[in-house]
Amino acid sequence: MTLTETAAPASTQPHILCTDLVRIFSADGVEVQALQGLNLRVDPGEMVAVVGASGSGKSTLLTILSGLDTATAGVARVAGHDLLSMGGRERVAYQRHTVGFVWQQTSRNLLPYLTSAENVALAMNVAGTLRGAPRARRVEELLELLDVGEMRDRRPGELSGGQQQRVAIAVALANSPQVLLADEPTGELDESTSAAVLEAMRGVNAELGVTTLIVTHDPTVSGHVRRTVQIRDGRTSTEVLRSTRVDEHGEEQHIAEEFAVLDRVGRLQLPHDFMQSLELRDRVRLALEADHVGVWPGDEGRADAATPPPPDQRPPGAPAAARAEPAAPAPTSRRARRAEERAAEASAADASEEER
Ligand SMILES: Nc1ncnc2c1ncn2[C@@H]1O[C@H](COP(=O)(O)OP(=O)(O)O)[C@@H](O)[C@H]1O
Ligand SMILES: [Mg+2]
Repeated sequence: MTLTETAAPASTQPHILCTDLVRIFSADGVEVQALQGLNLRVDPGEMVAVVGASGSGKSTLLTILSGLDTATAGVARVAGHDLLSMGGRERVAYQRHTVGFVWQQTSRNLLPYLTSAENVALAMNVAGTLRGAPRARRVEELLELLDVGEMRDRRPGELSGGQQQRVAIAVALANSPQVLLADEPTGELDESTSAAVLEAMRGVNAELGVTTLIVTHDPTVSGHVRRTVQIRDGRTSTEVLRSTRVDEHGEEQHIAEEFAVLDRVGRLQLPHDFMQSLELRDRVRLALEADHVGVWPGDEGRADAATPPPPDQRPPGAPAAARAEPAAPAPTSRRARRAEERAAEASAADASEEER
């Protein structure tokens, strides 16, 4: 088997699909909801980063996707396997053949008393894939692909952190998984080594077509992937899509656009600074406009809260609010003035930043 044969088959089914995924841990009578209805879809061959603060549920998600833990509720499907219902035998086969994983701790990925080549070969031995010359050839090909061919006879203790993670990626790919999962693969590396390891993962994704999911607290990962999903409080909240366009002067322009994630039933998470800026909490008013939905502070019972958005705040040709009740407070309210003041402060801060 050659490396190119491991490319993921073209398919319209997502390779990773999480729908309303919930994981509740109970310890000493205390419940922790690590995942609170998480939604995520990754298509075959995609490379996606999930970014979130410590404790946001990233490792919980990856441990479920790697088949080492089971979710409390919801749907988790990876390359045709239903992770909530699969039995013991399917689970073992899934871990050996369908997914490969790279963990943050280099010591968890590699056996210290085996060389790089032996570590990769061991993964094939455990899974019973390839033997003899084809196995040796694949070990060489993988180590070369990860740029650590010359380190084949060294043990992990004789490698740098970045080289160890490259060998770990080769081990994860040993049995041609359809999906590669990595939990903070650069967590123990410095900035430039991290960037090089992420580029190596991108190379593997491009070369082999293996669907790749990286979870990390490091926001700079978004510079290395086309799609970054933000996880907050056990839910995916926003997504940044990066694309490259060629402008009218023939120059390549890199564009990053941020989107809020909307689930099947219409839930989305407003960015924290939006909520703070308009003091949004508990209840908000919504209005359907021609091409967008407006969100205003609830402020129930306020005399000025029944005023609909003035026509000059609607897009051209937009009808008035589709329903009569939801409405925006008059722009002269204390809240609106404070939001304007904050916006003015922010732009003043930006201006002084630019002067420096
Ligand atoms: N085995 C466990 N038992 C109890 N609580 C856990 C367990 N694993 C994770 N948690 C809790 O779940 C939350 C999410 O943890 P984790 O997935 O490790 O976050 P992250 O990887 O984003 O830092 C945290 O509050 C953590 O304390
Ligand atoms: Mg973690």
